[in-house]
Amino acid sequence: MLATRILRPFSNAPIRQLNLKEKNNVIRCGSPFLSSGDRRSYASQQEQVDGKGVLVTGCDSGFGFSVAKHLHSKGFTVFAGCLLKDKGHEGARELDNMKCGRMQTVQLNVCKEEEVQRGVEHIQARLKDPEKGLWGLVNNAGISTFGEVEFTSMETYKEVAEVNLWGTVRVTKACLPLLRRAKGRVVNISSMLGRMANPARSPYCITKFGVEAFSDCLRYEMHPRGVKVSIVEPGNFIAATSLYTPERIKAIADKMWEDLPEVVRQDYGRKYFDEKIARMETYCNSGSTDTSSVINAITHALTSSSPYTRYHPMDYYWWLRMQIMTHMPGAISDRIYIY
Ligand SMILES: NC(=O)c1ccc[n+]([C@@H]2O[C@H](COP(=O)([O-])OP(=O)(O)OC[C@H]3O[C@@H](n4cnc5c(N)ncnc54)[C@H](OP(=O)(O)O)[C@@H]3O)[C@@H](O)[C@H]2O)c1
Repeated sequence: MLATRILRPFSNAPIRQLNLKEKNNVIRCGSPFLSSGDRRSYASQQEQVDGKGVLVTGCDSGFGFSVAKHLHSKGFTVFAGCLLKDKGHEGARELDNMKCGRMQTVQLNVCKEEEVQRGVEHIQARLKDPEKGLWGLVNNAGISTFGEVEFTSMETYKEVAEVNLWGTVRVTKACLPLLRRAKGRVVNISSMLGRMANPARSPYCITKFGVEAFSDCLRYEMHPRGVKVSIVEPGNFIAATSLYTPERIKAIADKMWEDLPEVVRQDYGRKYFDEKIARMETYCNSGSTDTSSVINAITHALTSSSPYTRYHPMDYYWWLRMQIMTHMPGAISDRIYIY
């Protein structure tokens, strides 16, 4: 009974996400695993910040927007890559309105090769000493979707991979010459879903597992060149960012149903489909609203003289679930969390 309470504190809902009320209960229990990346950040020696340059992608909203502001407050020169800067999106406008030379927004769609090359040239030209290179790159830009394998079109798989995976690879490759000169840092924002899969999340999981593999290979290759590579694996912060909004879920659901092959529509039926969508809608309000553990993990990876390979800013429930899913035989962990 005790074991069940620890492993599945909300055992009537095996794969449901925590809602805000539940999240508060978890946080009050004072788990030692809470925000481990955050907790560890105070222990190590810090590098000099000194106006060093950092490029953060996906700064229009969410973690990217917050981390851009936080790194600026720490003294970095921040190049905030924004998808919709040229469309006057309010995130980019707010960063521009800081009117500080150390906060510079850059038009950056990580899917567009030319835009990425132009963005990196723009940054290089604005570095205090281009010969000393760029200190940091935070690959944060990302999108998400949902849907079982049979409900997900090939276009959707490719669209999510183009941003989350190939976008990360593209921007990293473009920045590496500058990062190598600085013996700097690469910080890739993956997810707990880059370590453990979840039903109805295959398009997202595939890309985040890919980001993990890419980051590991890059870390091995860059070690002799003095560039350190870290991965941040946030838990559930859906309620705090724009990754899922009710409007986005509705738009995805409408298109998904419309595009479904007739045989899938008939075999699963509208009732089953609607139940899945309703479940996703409740997911929109789930997770932690306090993103400071993610922001602190990214900051630690950029400033500590010995950054961690992986950071796990997540609450106790997800931390434990990730340990069990990644360390126990599938036959056991599947029974605990999936079936
Ligand atoms: N929130 C969570 O619970 C959670 C958990 C684990 C991992 N993550 C990861 O954290 C990262 C940030 O997500 P978030 O939660 O902060 O969501 P978010 O608020 O939606 O932020 C993602 C940002 O990426 C931008 N973006 C989308 N496509 C882009 C492209 N092609 N080029 C450049 N930028 C693009 C978005 O711009 P628009 O807003 O203009 O579309 C948005 O500003 C993502 O990699 C996500 O997978 C999030």
